[in-house]
Amino acid sequence: MANDSNKFQAIISHCKEYGFIFPSSEIYDGLQAVYDYGQMGSELKKNIRDYWWKSMTQLNDNIVGIDAAIFMHPTTWKASGHVDNFNDPMIDNKDSKKRYRVDHLIEAHAEQMEKDGRIDEAKGMLVEMENLLAKDDFAGLKQLIADHGITCSVSGTSNWTDIRQFNLMFATEFGAVAAEEGQDNIVYLRPETAQGIFVNFLNVQKTGRMKVPFGIAQTGKAFRNEIVARQFIFRMREFEQMEMQFFVRPGTEGEWYKYWKEARLQWHLSLGIPAESYRYHDHVKLAHYAKEACDIEFNFPIGFKEVEGIHSRGKFDLWQHQEYSKKKMQYFDNDIDPATGKPYGNYIPYVIETSIGLDRMFLLVMSHAYEEQDLSTPEKPDSRVVLKLPAKLAPIKLAVFPLTKKDGLPEVAERIMDECRSSFRCFYEEKDAIGKRYRRMDAVGTPFCVTVDHQTKEDNTVTIRYRDSMEQERIPVSEIRNRVLQAIG
Ligand code: GAP
Repeated sequence: MANDSNKFQAIISHCKEYGFIFPSSEIYDGLQAVYDYGQMGSELKKNIRDYWWKSMTQLNDNIVGIDAAIFMHPTTWKASGHVDNFNDPMIDNKDSKKRYRVDHLIEAHAEQMEKDGRIDEAKGMLVEMENLLAKDDFAGLKQLIADHGITCSVSGTSNWTDIRQFNLMFATEFGAVAAEEGQDNIVYLRPETAQGIFVNFLNVQKTGRMKVPFGIAQTGKAFRNEIVARQFIFRMREFEQMEMQFFVRPGTEGEWYKYWKEARLQWHLSLGIPAESYRYHDHVKLAHYAKEACDIEFNFPIGFKEVEGIHSRGKFDLWQHQEYSKKKMQYFDNDIDPATGKPYGNYIPYVIETSIGLDRMFLLVMSHAYEEQDLSTPEKPDSRVVLKLPAKLAPIKLAVFPLTKKDGLPEVAERIMDECRSSFRCFYEEKDAIGKRYRRMDAVGTPFCVTVDHQTKEDNTVTIRYRDSMEQERIPVSEIRNRVLQAIG
């Protein structure tokens, strides 16, 4: 692959060609920053979601899951601060009319400076940007853009408007009389799944008899009217989040923040993705709710970018919902406080949040897995595209190929399918030469292929072929299922 931008484009094409991801409503030329997952993509996405869900709820006795509605009472978003604060500072170029998120515009310029060898200057500019963003100093940011001669990529000019805030929530109307009743009936498409957890905090705590510290996990769609929506599924207008809110006793949030920061990185590494592909980015500018926050960044083909956030949200959300709903959001802690010898008593728990984008995780897995290999020999040019997906995430775990369509081989292959399909996803194919069939399975990341040939009928063995090494070995038919189960266990 000549460079990473080519790799990114190759991944996008590959996703389309092999049924992973299609542009939404493509027959109408698509809808910007909205995508559909195809027959392979929906399996991979589900496997990532299940892996996260299990690691949260099944492997932690004190974390339970919920599935809240996308629509929520509009006051939720007043209380959460999203109506007033969920804004991005934007700037328009007067000549091209192109709109930019200010931080993206400056970051893109910094990347170019770094490529030109002006590394310290770029770093200095980014630090200044973070400081100005933290103070919402828009005049200062505009000056920074001017000082560095940052121009529009379309018009090439620096004829900029002032910087303005732009709210990212999608609004729609609720009920049949909505249009007549106007503003009162506006509901929002949730911009994060987290609020569905906060408003259900007491329901879950009481009915589940949960004891602090405990967590509530949820996966689901979120919607943001991203202005600069580009880079494929990295930044979408409709996307999916996997979030967990962990409720802790006030005063213990520092240690739990550290715990989850480390635990979440370990989850990523448990997929076999090397540590050097990841780094932490501690926030200087904190979101309106955060006390301490960091991102886990991954080295995508478009550079190191955020895939997950860990946020120490204090009691902000529960407190706000208590204020707006007038319902107590307190928890009674009857553990004994050693300092007083009495129960800790009533308090609003503090929250550590882990929030990861499922689509972004999908892109991460794809970026790590995608490989173009030159397999040429002096005699023959050859190459393959292989997705080295972790076996537990692969859409198809096992492909079963009869060498020919006759001599009873398809019947034997069908029997193997019957034995395996209830345990994991299998795929049967009898068309084309075996080599071609292997390559098609490499391209969708199938870790194992077995071929049934004439010897199978004599000794009940098959050839198993391993995707990454392309090595083959002969194993008994009775061993196939266990081999695969071991790899995906
Ligand atoms: N509840 C906290 C929250 O929503 P966030 O940093 O805004 O925090 C969390 O989002 C994660 O959601 C991000 O790390 C990213 O993976 C994903 N995400 C956010 N906006 C996205 C978008 N427009 N498209 C795809 N994924 C997005």
